[in-house]
Amino acid sequence: MRQAPPAFSEPVYVTRPLLPPLEEFVEQLQQIWASKWMTNGGGRHAALEQALREHLRVSHLSLFANGTIALMAACQALELTGEVITTPFTFPATPHALSWNRITPVFADIDPDSLTIDPNRIEELIGPRTSAILGVHVYGIPCDVDGIGRLAERHGLRVIYDGAHAFGTEIDGRPVTDFGDATMLSFHATKLFHTAEGGALIVREAETKRRVDLLKNFGIKNETEVMLPGINGKMNELQAALGLINLRYIDAERSKRERMIAVYRERLAGLPGVRCVRMPPGVRDSCQYFVIRIRPENGGRSCAEIYQGLKAFNIHTRRYFYPLCSEYGHYSGLASARPEHLPVAHEIVKEVLSLPLYGELGEEGAHRICDCISYLLYR
Ligand SMILES: Cc1ncc(COP(=O)(O)O)c(C=O)c1O
Repeated sequence: MRQAPPAFSEPVYVTRPLLPPLEEFVEQLQQIWASKWMTNGGGRHAALEQALREHLRVSHLSLFANGTIALMAACQALELTGEVITTPFTFPATPHALSWNRITPVFADIDPDSLTIDPNRIEELIGPRTSAILGVHVYGIPCDVDGIGRLAERHGLRVIYDGAHAFGTEIDGRPVTDFGDATMLSFHATKLFHTAEGGALIVREAETKRRVDLLKNFGIKNETEVMLPGINGKMNELQAALGLINLRYIDAERSKRERMIAVYRERLAGLPGVRCVRMPPGVRDSCQYFVIRIRPENGGRSCAEIYQGLKAFNIHTRRYFYPLCSEYGHYSGLASARPEHLPVAHEIVKEVLSLPLYGELGEEGAHRICDCISYLLYR
């Protein structure tokens, strides 16, 4: 019997928010207090939009109170209706943003390597009511943007990407947000770049950005004109201030996460039944998640057993994105949600485990987590 490695004395979660020095935020708060300008397109909002446009190398970016409202607004801005083809392997917000627009999600199976929506399974689902394809760059792995783009062009469909995990993702040096009509980013506290809650919508056309900016502010154009039935999706000055400060620290945080990822890869890739989910060649990792797939070999341990076993070591991993969205009661009655229609997603969702990834944990933390996983696998 092997000796068990030591448990962590404090709980280790899948992520922890990047927190800049408090003094820097307090200084910003003092300025906000003095200005008495809390929200409604203040100076920090404008500064963060500009800073992110430069950082992400995009032309048309609108800040939002959170990523979910940004995605809902994207559906409105692009006037989507009827049905939208999407992936079941995602966070609930993806199909819910469609449902809130009275659009029916149509689930397509995923590609077994990229874990993103499989373009080869989309075409058979396109019907007279289809208005768009909504892909998710899950874990920051880009969808097959070329394949999806070609399909959309052939069928006259819009393309939206849920890029909640894809801040800073690049494909052969090109920002992932260059593809599709619109891409949503989430700045939730769990994301590498965050504003506590927050998000952005990046769109291809200047005219769409004008619509988006109206939509996030009740449709108000000026004191006497309300152009659209908009919503309140505005990012406030406190969020924007936090974002401006966090931008200074994300490169250092990324480097720490990259070193942790290197440790995980080196230590875990050879273990029986374990596969590291990798970025395809030429893709810059957003360093948002590190995910392994565990497929029990010769009676070895399953993903669910490792997930449970790690808790005894005070390591709280997440089985993102189990269960599939197509399994939720609200969607399970749809024809496209039938398990036999989504065999790849059903197989993969049982295997995935997101491991803790945040700079503070460091390489030593990653080594200790690997010790625990090895111990549980070989026990
Ligand atoms: C894939 C995906 N889409 C959408 C969201 C929702 O983003 P937000 O929390 O900013 O509303 C999340 C969660 O953070 C997510 O993981």
